[in-house]
Amino acid sequence: MNILLLGSGGRENALAWKIKQSEKVNKLFIAPGNAGTGLVGENIAISATDFPAIKNFALKEKIEMVVVGPEEPLVRGIYDFFKADKEICHIPVIGPSAEGARLEGSKDFAKQFMMRHNIPTAQYKSFTYDDLQDAYRFIDQLKAPYVLKADGLAAGKGVLIIEDKEEAKTELKAMLSGMFGDASKTVVIEEFLSGIECSVFVLTDGESYKILPVAKDYKRIGEGDKGLNTGGMGAISPVSFADDVFMQKVEETIVIPTVEGLKKDKIDYKGFIFIGLISVDNEPMVIEYNVRMGDPETEAVMLRIKSDFGDLLLGAGTASLKDKTMEIDNRYAVTVMMVSGGYPGDYERNKEITGLDSITDSIVFHAGTKLDGEKVLTNGGRVIAVSSYGATKDEALALSYKNANKINFDKKYYRKDIGFDLK
Ligand code: AMP
Ligand code: GLY
Repeated sequence: MNILLLGSGGRENALAWKIKQSEKVNKLFIAPGNAGTGLVGENIAISATDFPAIKNFALKEKIEMVVVGPEEPLVRGIYDFFKADKEICHIPVIGPSAEGARLEGSKDFAKQFMMRHNIPTAQYKSFTYDDLQDAYRFIDQLKAPYVLKADGLAAGKGVLIIEDKEEAKTELKAMLSGMFGDASKTVVIEEFLSGIECSVFVLTDGESYKILPVAKDYKRIGEGDKGLNTGGMGAISPVSFADDVFMQKVEETIVIPTVEGLKKDKIDYKGFIFIGLISVDNEPMVIEYNVRMGDPETEAVMLRIKSDFGDLLLGAGTASLKDKTMEIDNRYAVTVMMVSGGYPGDYERNKEITGLDSITDSIVFHAGTKLDGEKVLTNGGRVIAVSSYGATKDEALALSYKNANKINFDKKYYRKDIGFDLK
């Protein structure tokens, strides 16, 4: 089978690496990809949101499955675009319909979905500018800190957690007045949940599902989870507190009601569901849904899937997932993200990356890189993810740190405490 994978980050490099190992896969193309995906498959200079160009390419290269990495093409309806076109409707697209993608694209939609299907999550109410006084009264009823969420996609910046009540009201008014453009015309205000978070990934064909290895990501730039939020500085799988008892609860109270809820609501969904969870006194509650794999979680999770991943994806795309198996490697897998100095603020690009060829005992995934002749240059805030296996988390981390030390570019930075809060 020929596969077209959309996206250009570390997640896509990890997906490409795993997909390419599949016995079912003949050619693998990545649009637009990066210097790392170009080592695994063939990069194509097409944007992941240029649907007409994707269609032409799919026809020309006899693509038999499209795998969507990031959320944007999904929210913009790539699944529906393929389904509605006679020439390409036979090609499975791994990812939900635009309606399904609203689970990530609209926090209000996601909260209503959870309420409707009895899925544990924080209590909430949604408001627009016209309800400002009601929103203030709702804040008065809640205990600090106050959680304010822009309804729409806001490049990962749309969630504010504020201690002071008056400040929360001021920020709420600013959000509703367009602080995040249209994304914050509706704001979800919710109860603050205290606990430890993890990421659960589910692959579904709309009927049946498989749960992928659970992971935890580290979002803050600084050690000890201090400083600004980033796209993610590292990840660990498995997660010590997400043991069998906890995961059983996750499956019964969250995964099954989610898959059944999609079915009941007649939402066409064949793809990944990323459930951002928080454990509150060992009870899992949903913080958010995403409709794609996590980044950098994927750079750890892919290492732990032993089964033929191309075959699993085909199962999701052709409603035959129940006949497939998801075999999991018991070892730890970790990833350490090397980033450009200054990230997540301003940073420079086009720095030469050296040492990539000297890596043994780790798997290097490219996040923000590009080729310049023979040279590999930095091309983003997150640059290289160094992933490793180990019998323990510390063994795996030691390998990633050893190798991150060998890879060099001007002003490189990485956290040296990934997994610090786990047993
Ligand atoms: P989200 O974009 O919904 O994932 O929110 C970003 C981050 O804000 C989450 O990863 C949590 O760390 C935090 N967060 C979101 N909602 C809550 C909540 N209700 N209680 C506590 N923390 C939250
Ligand atoms: N690592 C979190 C995300 O991909 O949104």
